[in-house]
Amino acid sequence: ISSLSGAHRKHYHQEEEESESSVESEPDEAPAAELVATGAENGSPGPSSQPRVAGTTSAPPAAASTPARAPAKPAVFIPVDRTPEMQEERLKLPILAEEQVIMEAVAEHPIVIVCGETGSGKTTQVPQFLYEAGYSSDNSIIGITEPRRVAAVAMSQRVAKEMNLSQRVVSYQIRYEGNVTEETRIKFMTDGVLLKEIQKDFLLQRYRVVLIDEAHERSVYTDILIGLLSRIVSLRAKRHVPLKLLIMSATLRVEDFTHNQRLFPQPPPVIKVESRQFPVTVHFNKRTPLEDYSSECFRKVCKIHRMLPAGGILVFLTGQAEVHALCRRLRRAFPHPRRRPPEKEDQEDSVEEMRKFKKSRTRAKNAQAATLPQISLDNYSVLPAGEGDQDREAEMDEEEEAALGSDLDLDLGDDGADGGEQPDASLPLHVLPLYSLLAPEKQAQVFQPPPEGTRLCVVATNVAETSLTIPGIKYVVDCGKVKKRHYDRVTGVSSFRVSWVSQASADQRAGRAGRTEPGHCYRLYSSAVFGDFEQFPPPEITRRPVEDLILQMKALNIEKVINFPFPTPPSVEALIAAEELLVALGALEAPQKTKSMKQPQRSRLSCPITALGRTMATFPVAPRYAKMLALSRQHGCLPYTITIVAAMTVRELFEELDRPAASNEELTKLKDKRARVAQMKRIWAGQGASLKLGDIMVLLGAVGACEYSGCSPQFCEANGLRYKAMLEIRRLRGQLTTAVNTVCPEAGLFVDPKMQPPSESQVTYLRQIVVAGLGDHLARRVQSEDLLDDKWKNAYKTPLLDDPVFIHPSSVLFKELPEFVVYQEIVETTKMYMKGVSAVEVQWIPVLLPSYCQFDKPLEEPPPAYCPEKGRVICHRASVFYRVGWPLPAVQVD
Ligand code: CDP
Ligand code: MG
Repeated sequence: ISSLSGAHRKHYHQEEEESESSVESEPDEAPAAELVATGAENGSPGPSSQPRVAGTTSAPPAAASTPARAPAKPAVFIPVDRTPEMQEERLKLPILAEEQVIMEAVAEHPIVIVCGETGSGKTTQVPQFLYEAGYSSDNSIIGITEPRRVAAVAMSQRVAKEMNLSQRVVSYQIRYEGNVTEETRIKFMTDGVLLKEIQKDFLLQRYRVVLIDEAHERSVYTDILIGLLSRIVSLRAKRHVPLKLLIMSATLRVEDFTHNQRLFPQPPPVIKVESRQFPVTVHFNKRTPLEDYSSECFRKVCKIHRMLPAGGILVFLTGQAEVHALCRRLRRAFPHPRRRPPEKEDQEDSVEEMRKFKKSRTRAKNAQAATLPQISLDNYSVLPAGEGDQDREAEMDEEEEAALGSDLDLDLGDDGADGGEQPDASLPLHVLPLYSLLAPEKQAQVFQPPPEGTRLCVVATNVAETSLTIPGIKYVVDCGKVKKRHYDRVTGVSSFRVSWVSQASADQRAGRAGRTEPGHCYRLYSSAVFGDFEQFPPPEITRRPVEDLILQMKALNIEKVINFPFPTPPSVEALIAAEELLVALGALEAPQKTKSMKQPQRSRLSCPITALGRTMATFPVAPRYAKMLALSRQHGCLPYTITIVAAMTVRELFEELDRPAASNEELTKLKDKRARVAQMKRIWAGQGASLKLGDIMVLLGAVGACEYSGCSPQFCEANGLRYKAMLEIRRLRGQLTTAVNTVCPEAGLFVDPKMQPPSESQVTYLRQIVVAGLGDHLARRVQSEDLLDDKWKNAYKTPLLDDPVFIHPSSVLFKELPEFVVYQEIVETTKMYMKGVSAVEVQWIPVLLPSYCQFDKPLEEPPPAYCPEKGRVICHRASVFYRVGWPLPAVQVD
């Protein structure tokens, strides 16, 4: 079962992090009280036998022949007051041995690639080398980009701590949050943030050095940044204010950067950091891989914990829900005698909170089950059991997994060694989750040594693969899978799919076991399966639609995107699809029509950006949503559109209630809740105009009602809303409001969580705004005279898909069946279902979506327009056709 989401519900590039996670500003790291180290001590290597090369920070480098005339290396040396403990810890890192080599290369070359095993110290140490060498003197900044928000935050905290500096100096910036100040000298940020800065100042004049971290991940924004920076570096050199670019990568496929004439005509030097990697013994499963790899992980961890010597365990799973479920099972199997009471420990963990709340509710409910009123299910259709949406695993309610998995808890497998043995509960396991959306303070726990007498067990998604290095891991359990968004090339619709990792990723995972001593990696798949893995994961840019990216690039006045020096270019089809969508949205000027039927690709790929496109590019959401925001400065619609966009961007507002029930009791509970949710949806959708806004109105209503309740977990639970999603929406509303205020300060918007419902006329404007944004997701109900066979009954036709699509039963428009609708996404279960449906008035189509229409006469001036005096659309044509040739009814000729 896959979910197809054509409307990009979230900003693409972060698979599970971008739209959901966000981090509050951290208080400054207080300098350690027992600070004793002096600058002098830090300037020289100190007592350790580790060879810290003396020349690195004091002697002038052999940099006489730098390409630029300005001094390539600053003469100033900035002392750093590290604590002796910290200094000692640093000196153990392999990269310290390469400090001189790196700094000399940086002095001599504008671009340097540093590649080294994960954990060798690239992210935490190289910024410090540069700082000490004075690259942030004269008020300039050392910038480091990370593809993940968590890394940006965690690393800024770590480096501040290591350097004994406040977070006013070593800061982070992620989207609209951060703690950057005037004093900031080292700035960690997400790659998207730097891209936005380039839009404001193409030469990045505040920066003396930019480090692109985790370049091997090949995230789209990292790729683009490298392409852009290759140009910025040469521009800066021409102006004699050189900018240094460091590309840092794990030891994966560096050739994409070095052997790329267009990107770097002169290949930059590559400095390899020798890793102090201990041997890791890899154990493959003999059996064919099991479907239930979570349970297999559980068994393996139990076995390791019971039978193998001390050493941390790191488990790789695919998603947040699985991580939580396994953590719970492990905690139950090996309870922690000194665990704090659960209320405290899980204070910020809203999922846990919800779970407890549900439990207490269930208990209370069971107690009075006999007296509870039964709500009728008569007028609500549900999907047949089993039609869950796998996709939701990424975010789904963990309670469900726990419920389904709980009876397996003590099942340690039927193979000999495990059989029947109970885990030795006397040895506590210190179980910690780790995934991108985890609150940073919780994430930081994995870096702390586990309580004495316990064994550390971290259950992680692939964030632990390269971004974060956990100390003390000796055993790795690798399920071999990764959850990735998958895009359909033709339709542009997407789904999350669990698939095998690449060989490079599997080896990277295994490597995590050999950081401090020889280790073991248990792969839950056979060596034959491993042999079939792809060698490397394909770069993200080749796997997804690129319209957001193209818009950002056009905003940088890169018109001929096809000529851009991508490290790996996206396919021409992807570029064309992106450009066409952006033209349709009005973000790009339409290409000049040529006489020949087939336009040369190049002209189709060099459309300049419009004023609307520039505005859209400033919003941190996908272009369809950005269009909605850009259109909303009328009739007081902005606060509503912001809420709608926030709600559409956050995945799954509502709990998943269509899952199969494990017991009769659960089934009753589920039915009960489904009915309640259906009723609430009808209430939120309202009647008349507001019902026509459909599921979008439900989003507005749900957020509004939830905010009126003070956004309480109880309210969410009672109404089937995901508490976490509601919190995220609130946060996103804040961010988007900031974004709007930045673009247009006169709007003077502020977030009023308790907004009034929109007026009737505002609802109509909102419907039009939604149509304007989601125009390529228009669907028309198949008319009775066109009915080919029964499978098309109540079906809709979309331009992109040949098969019939239907309004999802959970939609408030399920029974309304408007002739024209737009949808947010298509979910495929037994049928193709449209979700997030809103009704469209036919006369809006030529006005709001002219680029999707074929007019029977060439467009005359003025184009069709809404005439307020007449109260209707004026369109001087007899008929219009939607792109695939659907005849639209004749539009009134005035
Ligand atoms: O970037 P790279 O993977 O090369 O290494 P790093 O992230 O700079 O990490 C260097 C070392 O710092 C690792 O051994 C981590 O375990 C340690 N570290 C830590 O102890 N606490 C943190 N919050 C971050 C890193
Ligand atoms: Mg790193």
